Amino acid sequence: MFDSRETGRHAFVVGYPVKHSRSPLIHGYWLRQFGIDGSYRTVEVTEADFPVFLERLRDGSAGYSGGNVTIPHKERAVRLADRPDALSEELGAANTLWVEDGLVHSTNTDGLGFLANLDERKPGWDCFDKAVVLGAGGASRAIIQALRNRGFDEIHVVNRTVERAEELADRFGKRVFAHPMGALAEVLSGAGLFVNTTSLGLHGTPIPDLPLERLKADATVTDVVYVPLVTPLLLQAERHGLATVDGLGMLLHQAVPGFERWFGRRPQVTPELRALVIADMEMHA
Ligand code: ATR
Repeated sequence: MFDSRETGRHAFVVGYPVKHSRSPLIHGYWLRQFGIDGSYRTVEVTEADFPVFLERLRDGSAGYSGGNVTIPHKERAVRLADRPDALSEELGAANTLWVEDGLVHSTNTDGLGFLANLDERKPGWDCFDKAVVLGAGGASRAIIQALRNRGFDEIHVVNRTVERAEELADRFGKRVFAHPMGALAEVLSGAGLFVNTTSLGLHGTPIPDLPLERLKADATVTDVVYVPLVTPLLLQAERHGLATVDGLGMLLHQAVPGFERWFGRRPQVTPELRALVIADMEMHA
């Protein structure tokens, strides 16, 4: 995988497919900024080859300090890691790996990224008791866990397939409630946060009008979709006069803990980095 003459520290994002990942742009920016002798690269690995990839990570022959894990390996990464942390174990999915003393550790930084983005762009967003999360997939799980840990009293999960929302309510305990789509208007009443974790609105695909007027007047609406930056949901929220936070910051902030683990410096999410990623998005739009 590596030329043995290569020096420095190296990290990866492993997935299948992985070529559209923006992580190399983000980590590459920080590597240059710190002047670190190292690299961050995409590695395309099929499901069948993933255990061998992890074995080579563990024994050091791949030459990596660690890396990110994306679709379709996030669940298996936790199962195959020697030391999954409590967070990734509870979620059943990891996005960050690192090697320490010949053991593969795993964590999940999506929830931290979600919170850090809102903290940065809308301080005080968390002063409410009630949040509504649309969707019940992997992103939803990390966000529910983060909201619960932040202290929200009621987290309502609304999903097209209500059984998946019910599974999450069972998994995350008594502050999490499951609802079918039809209950959205009722559930939004009096909530201070609405999060879309589904692919609705991706690439600007139109979405139905949502009853956002039911939210508190000073509520925040946010989206994990960040292509386009201002999604159809965020446009609707703006029309209702609600505060909005786009999802790009979640992508940027979730990358911080991994970089610090692999390269030993804690990077910053700067306006310059954000502009760099936006320019890249526009170039590939
Ligand atoms: P991820 O891991 O990225 O969150 P996922 O596990 O595939 O992705 O979950 C996608 C979520 O988007 C699910 O909640 C899905 O609803 P279902 O559980 O009913 O499938 C939701 N979703 C995707 N497309 C949707 C649509 N057109 N309308 C409503 N919900 C949708």
